[in-house]
Amino acid sequence: MSPSVKGMRDLMGDELRWFRRVEEAVHRIFGAHGYREIRTPILEYTDVFKRSVGDSSDIVSKEMYEFTDKGNRSVTMRPENTAGVVRAMVEHKLLINNDPQLLYYIGPMFRYERMQAGRYRQFWQIGAESFGVASPESEAESLAMLFDFLQALGLKSLSLSLNSVGTPESRPAFNAAFRAFFDAREARFCEDCHRRIETNPMRILDCKNPRCQEALEGHPTMVEFLDEASKAHHARLKELLVVLGIPFTENPRLVRGLDYYTRTAFEVLSTDLGAQSALLGGGRYDGLVKQLGGPDTPAFGWAIGLDRLAMILKQLQGEAPFHPPALLIPLGEVASARALQLARDWWAMGLSFQLETRGGALKKAMASANRSGAKLALILGDGELEKGVVAVKRLDTGAQEEWALADVPEKLVTEGRGMKTV
Ligand code: HAM
Repeated sequence: MSPSVKGMRDLMGDELRWFRRVEEAVHRIFGAHGYREIRTPILEYTDVFKRSVGDSSDIVSKEMYEFTDKGNRSVTMRPENTAGVVRAMVEHKLLINNDPQLLYYIGPMFRYERMQAGRYRQFWQIGAESFGVASPESEAESLAMLFDFLQALGLKSLSLSLNSVGTPESRPAFNAAFRAFFDAREARFCEDCHRRIETNPMRILDCKNPRCQEALEGHPTMVEFLDEASKAHHARLKELLVVLGIPFTENPRLVRGLDYYTRTAFEVLSTDLGAQSALLGGGRYDGLVKQLGGPDTPAFGWAIGLDRLAMILKQLQGEAPFHPPALLIPLGEVASARALQLARDWWAMGLSFQLETRGGALKKAMASANRSGAKLALILGDGELEKGVVAVKRLDTGAQEEWALADVPEKLVTEGRGMKTV
C-alpha cells in the first residue's frame, strides 16, 4: 500500500490534541470579538487565486495544486483562504450595504512547497478578515484580538514586524526610484532579482540570497514614497499599537508573498522556531474585493499557520494530556449491562471516561488500559456489584483502592481536576 502523499500527514494523538485546544480558543476568543465563522470550499476556480494572489507570486507560479476537472474547468485546491472568502462575500452580496463584516476560518490549505521543518503541502491556517472599514482602528482591533489569542495560549516571545507597502498609486514612484537604485548595482543581484525587477520590483527586498540582501544596503523604502493619507494611516496605527502595548519593529524590507496588499503589511515571528519562520502574516487589501467583482470595499486580515503554532505549543508546554483520564472495565454479562447503565448516567453528568466493551479476560483489558495513557482503571465485577463498589487501579503506580458507586462521580471529578481537557 502507498503511504500518505508527500507533504501531507495524518493528524492524531498529541499533535491533534494541540490542534483542538487551539481551535477551541479560536472559537471562544474570536467569537467574543464579534467575528463569525465561515467555511468556504477547498476547491475554487483557478482564476480566483490568479486574480488575487497574483501571477508573479511563488504561490501561483510554482505552488498551486491546479488541475482540470472532468468538466474541463481549471480548478485549484486553495493555497490560502483570503481569495475564497472575498469570492464568497461578493457572490452572496454581503458587502453591498457597507456594514462591517468580521469573519474567521480554520481549515487546510495546499501548496506544493519544498519540505522543511514545520512546512507541509497540506497545512492548516486560522485566519481573520474584516471587511468594510478602512481605519487604522480596525487594524488595531484585529491585532489586539490576535495578540490576546496568542497570549491566551501562553506564547510570549513574539515580535510584530511592520511595514507599509503603499497603494497602487504610490507604487510607480517607488518602483522608479528603486529601479534607478537597482540599475546602479545590478551585477550584485541574483538572476531571480533580475526577473523580479521586470515583474514585481518590490519582491527584491524579500530575496533570501544574502548577497542580494547586502546589495540592498541603503535602498529606497516604500514608506518614503507614501502619499499623505497612507503616511498618516501608518503613523496612527503605530500610535495605537503603543497604546495597546503591542511591541513592534518597523521592517522596510517586509513585503508579503501575495500581491493583494495595500498600506499595512505585517508578520509575526516567533523565536521558538528556526530562522526564517513566520508564524503568521497579513495586512490590508483594499483593492481585492473590487478586483474580484465586488463593490469597492476596504479590508484587513491575517492568517496563522496552525501546524507551526501547535509545534511551538508542544515545545513550550509538552504533551497535551490524554483525555479522558479513566477506563471503566466490566467483567461478565451482568456487570456489562450494569456498566452500560452507569456509564450513561455518568456521561450525562459530564464525566469523562472510556467504556471497555470487548468482554473477555481482565488481563487483556488491563494490558490495553496500561497502553492507553489513561490514569485510572475502574473495574466492575460481580463481587464489586454485590458490594456496591468499583475496584480502582492507578495505572501509573499500580496502587489499588475501592470507591462506593455513589461516590464515583465526585471522585472522578477530583481526579480529573487539573488535567487539561483536550
Ligand atoms: P501567508 O503568509 O502566505 O499569508 O500564510 C500565512 C501563514 O501560513 C504563514 O505565516 C505560515 O505560518 C503558514 N504557512 C504558509 N505556508 C505554509 C506551509 N507550506 N506549511 C505550513 N504553514 C504554512 C496568507 O496565506 C494570507 N492569506 C494571509 C492573509 C489573510 N492576509 C490577509 N488576510
